[in-house]
Amino acid sequence: MTIHIGANPGEIAETVLMPGDPYRAKWAAETFLEDAQLINQVRGMLGFTGTWKGHRVTIQGSGMGMPSLSIYANELIRDYGAQTLIRIGSCGGMQDKVALRDIIVAMTASTLGTPSSGIFRELNFAPCADWSLLNAAVKAAEGKGATTHVGGIYSSDVFYDERPDLNEQMVRHGILGVEMEAAELYTLAARYGRRALAVLTVSDHLGRNEALPSEDRERSFGDMVEIALEAAFS
Ligand code: HPA
Repeated sequence: MTIHIGANPGEIAETVLMPGDPYRAKWAAETFLEDAQLINQVRGMLGFTGTWKGHRVTIQGSGMGMPSLSIYANELIRDYGAQTLIRIGSCGGMQDKVALRDIIVAMTASTLGTPSSGIFRELNFAPCADWSLLNAAVKAAEGKGATTHVGGIYSSDVFYDERPDLNEQMVRHGILGVEMEAAELYTLAARYGRRALAVLTVSDHLGRNEALPSEDRERSFGDMVEIALEAAFS
């Protein structure tokens, strides 16, 4: 047990999928894993371990935002030995070519700062995905016929953003979408020599003021879980 995860030693797999929403973790575990067992419910941040095609997998909620994800990813890596961590979540589209339901595989994640920024001082560290996972996820996404974009995303600290000028700069520099967690996941994976990736579904679009109806979200989310699982074990 750690401060935020109640699982016993050995109850967490080396491969961990991390949706922001704990109820998404429950849904994904019940839908895609065999013999899924609840291994954490501290603070309601549900985690499950089961198997997918014979491979052990944990699906653990991360909560919203980098400070929350940082707590779970640190404990998963340092205390439970997680080796491969894949964020599965939603993002806001930023480029015209990005449409609702498209998949974004995040090569890099820009930020104003992460919970790790203090250690870098004046350095702008560039958090990036694990290449083998990224490559495998793109192949898996294309295999499903999903419209897939690969490139940089923006991990923001706020959902209700008061800096439209900053979003404009992100769009201008080719950033595909905005979410709130990936940069810290990539930074922690780099620090501890683990593999990390974020596979995202576009749930809204900042420029076009569109959002996915809630009934569509489950289907899109399912594609993302399968892409992450195929990438992890390819
Ligand atoms: N902003 C930040 N995070 C998000 C968004 C957004 O528009 N959509 C999904 N996650």
